[in-house]
Amino acid sequence: MYDHPYQWGSKRTGPDLARIGGKYPDSWHFNHMLEPTSMAPGSIMPPYPWLFEKSIDYGSTNSKIYAMRKMGVPYEEGYEAIANEDLKAQANQIVESLKKEKITIGADKQIIALIAYLQRVGKDIKAAPKEEQLSQK
Ligand code: HEM
Repeated sequence: MYDHPYQWGSKRTGPDLARIGGKYPDSWHFNHMLEPTSMAPGSIMPPYPWLFEKSIDYGSTNSKIYAMRKMGVPYEEGYEAIANEDLKAQANQIVESLKKEKITIGADKQIIALIAYLQRVGKDIKAAPKEEQLSQK
C-alpha cells in the first residue's frame, strides 16, 4: 500500500502478489526464494541465493524512513530513532518461526527482510476499511 514507487512494476510474469501477506508460512517463502521449484514444481521464477548470504544495511534505515514519510507513508514522528530496534524484533520473530521448521539463518540476512515485506503486502489495505467504519460512528 505504501510502496513508492510501487515495487512490482507494470509488467508481471508471476502471479499478483497484492494479497501475498499471510498466504504462506515464513518457511514457504524461505524455500521458494532459495529454490522456487521446491515449492512450485515447474516454476520459471529464478532463485535468489544472494539474499541468504548478504546482510541487511541497518545504516540506511533512518534515511529510508525519512524519504518514505516525505512521500506520504504515515511513520510517526521520531520513528526513525526506534526503527532498527523494531526491525530486529521483527527479524527475530521470523528467525524463530523458521527454527520451528528446522531452518537456521541469521536475523541479519536480507531474506529475512524480504519475508517480513512479503508477509505485510496487502495487510495494511485490508485493515483500512475497518478504521474508516470506526471513524464514521
Ligand atoms: C524479488 C523478486 C521476486 C519475489 C519476491 C517473488 C515472489 C513470488 C511469490 C511470493 C510467489 C508465490 C505467489 C503465490 O503463490 O501466490 C511467486 C510466484 C511466481 N513467480 Fe516470483 N518473485 C520474484 C521474482 C520473479 C521473477 C523475476 C519471475 C519471472 C521471471 C517470477 C515468476 C514467478 C512465477 C512464474 C510464479 C508462479 C510459480 C511459483 O510459485 O514459483 N518471480 N513469486
